[in-house]
Amino acid sequence: MKKIAIMASGSGSNAEALLDNYFNEKNLHHKMQIKAIITDKKEAFVLERAKKFPVSCYAVPYDSCPEGRDFSKKAHERKILSILNDLEVNWIFLAGYMRLLSQEFLNHFYESDGESSYYRVLNIHPSLLPSFPGISAYKDAFDYGVKISGSTVHFVDEGVDTGPILLQTSFKRESNDTLEAFSKRGLSLEHKLYVNSMHIIANDNFVVHKKNVELRN
Ligand code: GRF
Repeated sequence: MKKIAIMASGSGSNAEALLDNYFNEKNLHHKMQIKAIITDKKEAFVLERAKKFPVSCYAVPYDSCPEGRDFSKKAHERKILSILNDLEVNWIFLAGYMRLLSQEFLNHFYESDGESSYYRVLNIHPSLLPSFPGISAYKDAFDYGVKISGSTVHFVDEGVDTGPILLQTSFKRESNDTLEAFSKRGLSLEHKLYVNSMHIIANDNFVVHKKNVELRN
């Protein structure tokens, strides 16, 4: 059984899309359980959105671990890991989680079967990676003047938005687009992409060959 935690720092629309599909369609329930929403911000709107679903929520504010930058990061991750361990979480879906996870944290989710190795941690990123990694990808792509943009769901590795790509989707920039309209179009596609990704993971329809992820039917 895959036991998932969704980690988010902000609005949580991707988290809501996952929860909505999971709890309303119910066809993944024999393979996957969404055990928790974890946020690093007490005021994150994801907590409001999650109230509509039977899922436990945990706010673990970073400033609850205030002892120097490196130590704080360790202490913060340790708090999160202890929640994840108690719930026996074995997969993480990052959905707008605004902190980089340390190698030490990722090691808890390392998977290797000889043929294939990866961390059981997914992320959704609002650009066609490897273009426009980082925290303001819609703006960066829009300001660059791209004609086509998109979003990417990838396995997380030690780098910033560099892990093996599971799925991508693209959309066109319209001639009269504002950044707001461009981002809104992208975000609604993200929701579908992340839900599709959840189904692929739940059904084990993937094999990771180094950087290349093969999809199976
Ligand atoms: C999304 O654009 C996602 O790709 C990025 O952060 C944003 C989160 O949006 N990683 P939301 O909180 O899911 O609405």
